[in-house]
Amino acid sequence: MSPNGSTEMSDYAEKLIRGRRATRAFRPDPVPEEILRAVFALAGAAPSNSNAQPWRVEVVSGALRDRLADALQKAHAGQRTTVDFPYREDMYSTEHQRRRAAFGAELYGALGIGQNDHAARAAYDAESLGFYGAPHVAFLFVTGDAGARLAADVGIYTQTLLLAMAAYGLDSCPQGLLSFYADTVRGELGLDGGKLLVGISFGYADEAAPVNHITPGRAALDATTTFHL
Ligand SMILES: Cc1cc2nc3c(=O)[nH]c(=O)nc-3n(C[C@H](O)[C@H](O)[C@H](O)COP(=O)(O)O)c2cc1C
Repeated sequence: MSPNGSTEMSDYAEKLIRGRRATRAFRPDPVPEEILRAVFALAGAAPSNSNAQPWRVEVVSGALRDRLADALQKAHAGQRTTVDFPYREDMYSTEHQRRRAAFGAELYGALGIGQNDHAARAAYDAESLGFYGAPHVAFLFVTGDAGARLAADVGIYTQTLLLAMAAYGLDSCPQGLLSFYADTVRGELGLDGGKLLVGISFGYADEAAPVNHITPGRAALDATTTFHL
């Protein structure tokens, strides 16, 4: 162990956790099936309250992925939104809003979209329902009563999955926006249960896209964490 406590394992963890970034432009190349299986098997090692594992995961590729993108874009155009987990702008504190605005400025800056160009932002949102060009998308559903505690377990699964993807060389983007079309997703996948928490587009990044080079910062440690030593 080095003087600052780092080990080979912590060096890997620093690289893995800090190296994962939301990717918003993908190459079309599909992920080999053995890698898909390894990644989702690893994600299943996520912890959950009493080991209930209240997640249901639907991994969509190929022709179904294309049909789904089409159906989502049509639902968006027709303003047919259905959310299982209600969303309100006022759920965010002033501090949250400040961080969101800083992130938005970085994202839309990289895309060449002006701060107040609401039409271009809306068009980008609509476009993103095509999974940013990713060949695969995973939909994470909460099962059981899908209350806050079970949704938290699926949130933990979500980050475990994102890290498993990064470890296997895959790039990803969690997309809360996909959860605004829960009925469309259920309809296309032939599902009648589960509440849709988030969708995750994934595959291999288009490294040439400037949007893939933004690096949103994080709050200082003291702003979020108190050590009662
Ligand atoms: C639950 C959740 C929902 C998100 N929804 C979206 C989304 O709809 N569209 C999008 O482009 N990014 C989305 N993101 C990505 C965040 O914007 C991103 O994680 C955050 O800005 C931090 O950047 P980083 O992941 O590159 O570190 C989401 C992330 C999470 C965890």
